[in-house]
Amino acid sequence: MAYRFEPLAKQHDRAAFHCASASLNTYLRQIATKDAERHVAAVFVMVDDAAPATIVGYYMLSAFAVELTELPEAVQKKLPRYPRLPAALLGRLARDVRFPGAGSLLLMDALTRTYQKSAEIASLALVADAKDQAAFVFYRKFGFAQLGRDPHRVFLPMGTIAELVGKQN
Ligand SMILES: CC(C)(COP(=O)(O)OP(=O)(O)OC[C@H]1O[C@@H](n2cnc3c(N)ncnc32)[C@H](O)[C@@H]1OP(=O)(O)O)[C@@H](O)C(=O)NCCC(=O)NCCS
Repeated sequence: MAYRFEPLAKQHDRAAFHCASASLNTYLRQIATKDAERHVAAVFVMVDDAAPATIVGYYMLSAFAVELTELPEAVQKKLPRYPRLPAALLGRLARDVRFPGAGSLLLMDALTRTYQKSAEIASLALVADAKDQAAFVFYRKFGFAQLGRDPHRVFLPMGTIAELVGKQN
């Protein structure tokens, strides 16, 4: 399958998207376009070149800030003592049930995009919300670690992202 990633737009069939999470289906169908129009989230979809209206999966990115004290001490020691530090947020990520294996491709595209943009708007990590234990295990596979006390919030430092993205190219 030849696929590509592009911003969510009118030609994409949002109604046909069906992932394992009802709330992530509803978000894509009813809220994602409004969020993008209001500059609250940048929403990217993965599509098959042969069927470009079919959404294989999607993810959304936003600007974010982390509290210095939420980061592990070993990370804090290498950072300036600013109370809040810049990060990117991967608020949602999901793939359609028809496309197993697309999850890691979506995540790698989000990591690549975050890394490239961080050269222009600094970001020290990508933070993600793992909505349940399965999502937490998925993110752990790529090296994400828990951020602060919230068991659902994970992060991956930009240095690790650079290594992952570098390995891919
Ligand atoms: C989580 C999700 C994106 C994973 O997509 P996927 O296409 O199954 O992921 P991949 O097959 O690319 O998996 C990558 C790795 O994570 C592991 N993984 C994926 N889902 C897992 C789960 N539920 N439990 C344990 N491991 C899991 C895979 O085994 C794989 O590991 P491997 O490389 O060692 O084999 C997908 O199940 C989904 O869309 N779920 C509903 C939405 C959701 O939970 N989003 C997460 C953030 S809110």
